[in-house]
Amino acid sequence: TTMCNSCVGGATTMELYEQLTAQGDKVRSLKTAKADKADVDAAIQLLLKLKVDYKEVTGQDYKAGCPPSGTAVSNDRQSENGGEEDTVDPWNVATNSAKGVDYDKLIVRFGSSKIDQELVDRIEKVSGQKPHRFLRRGIFFSHRDMNQVLDAYEKQKSFYLYTGRGPSSQAMHVGHLIPFVFTKWLQDVFDIPLVIQLTDDEKYLWKDLSLEDCHRFAEENAKDIIACGFDVNKTFIFSDLDYMGSSPEFYRNVVKVQKHVTFNQVKGIFGFSDSDCIGKISFPAIQAAPAFSSSFPQIFKGRKDVQCLIPCAIDQDPYFRMTRDVAPRIGYPKPALLHSTFFPALQGAQTKMSASDANSSIFLTDTPKQIKNKVNKHAFSGGKDTIEEHREQGGNPDIDVAFMYLTFFMEDDEQLEKIRQDYTSGILLTGELKKMLIETLQPMITAHQENRKNVTDEMVKQFMTPRPLNFNF
Ligand code: TRP
Repeated sequence: TTMCNSCVGGATTMELYEQLTAQGDKVRSLKTAKADKADVDAAIQLLLKLKVDYKEVTGQDYKAGCPPSGTAVSNDRQSENGGEEDTVDPWNVATNSAKGVDYDKLIVRFGSSKIDQELVDRIEKVSGQKPHRFLRRGIFFSHRDMNQVLDAYEKQKSFYLYTGRGPSSQAMHVGHLIPFVFTKWLQDVFDIPLVIQLTDDEKYLWKDLSLEDCHRFAEENAKDIIACGFDVNKTFIFSDLDYMGSSPEFYRNVVKVQKHVTFNQVKGIFGFSDSDCIGKISFPAIQAAPAFSSSFPQIFKGRKDVQCLIPCAIDQDPYFRMTRDVAPRIGYPKPALLHSTFFPALQGAQTKMSASDANSSIFLTDTPKQIKNKVNKHAFSGGKDTIEEHREQGGNPDIDVAFMYLTFFMEDDEQLEKIRQDYTSGILLTGELKKMLIETLQPMITAHQENRKNVTDEMVKQFMTPRPLNFNF
């Protein structure tokens, strides 16, 4: 039997379109009526799900006022990516679409919430600062419970930030800095403590590396993190290998989590199998522990109810779904989350930058000349093959890696928008676009290298020593 591919669960594209339009109206009326936040969120969630279904069936984004056309069905996303789902977990990121992972779909699959304009506006209002470009441009695009954090903050209830890095090598690339650059901004605008976990234990368990190498990478990576400008009076950076053994409170929380998560659950969440070593199986408890304030008595004076906010790339969400699931069962608040998209590889947004492939990444140690060569040689272009064609038809910024990188690093919104328009219309050539990216990256990386040079071993030691921070809890 053949199935009509414009039908999903019995609904035709037109029915889907009408359902979507009705749901959009519903969301708007709930918002105008200042309805309960939970109801609005639920309605938005359904709206997003319908949009994903719609795109699946029609291959096009839903546009209010533009009903589906009969011809659209042939170029649907199913055929574009072979009908497969994007892969997103802590170890792999892959999609067949040159535009990158379908993030709206991921929000539905993971059950998180979209960072919409309303939330960005609210962050601006509560912090009193212009939202960071990562928020303005949807690079941090998804969240869990951010409204709750802001509600409490408005009532003078503080919170703290937790983020981390797996130190798998000496070499860090620009993609690794995204969560730290954003976390630094959050720390500045909200003036709150920050803990940074370096999971040298995790990398030892997963990679073919010695314990001592992982520990050394942790200290080396700490220098790059410190070079982002964190305030030593407000920031604690720790290696699991060092801190776990020295903090009874931290270890107690690890054990509490271990008692409340079964092998079956972690198998379901992380895909572990019977032949994975037991270190891997219990590791998620170690990534969960820093989300509870009682793991840091020196900072929070034993308080176990300080709300945690975790900025991270969305591939880390499985760890924190588990963490949020156990939190109430062990008497702690659930951590809130802010999720970022991935930083695309030079070769294209089908995957993220990888430190193990030198040509896929711009490293923090690259010279201006290396940056220039890599961008010119390897950055996937959405431009046309010849100048004549390009002038006539224009380029495609949605799949162009140089343009994508500029959306991460160019501060000026108007300048970026002009570049997008000029590239799309063909006024701007690929070579010219790449030159702009090179001229943005070179001073940025040079400045980072300068900052890193000024980070002494003594400073690293200070950041990594358990101690009170400049906050009264
Ligand atoms: N598992 C992460 C990695 O491999 C490191 C990490 C630990 C982390 N805790 C975190 C990342 C909290 C983000 C937020 O890179």
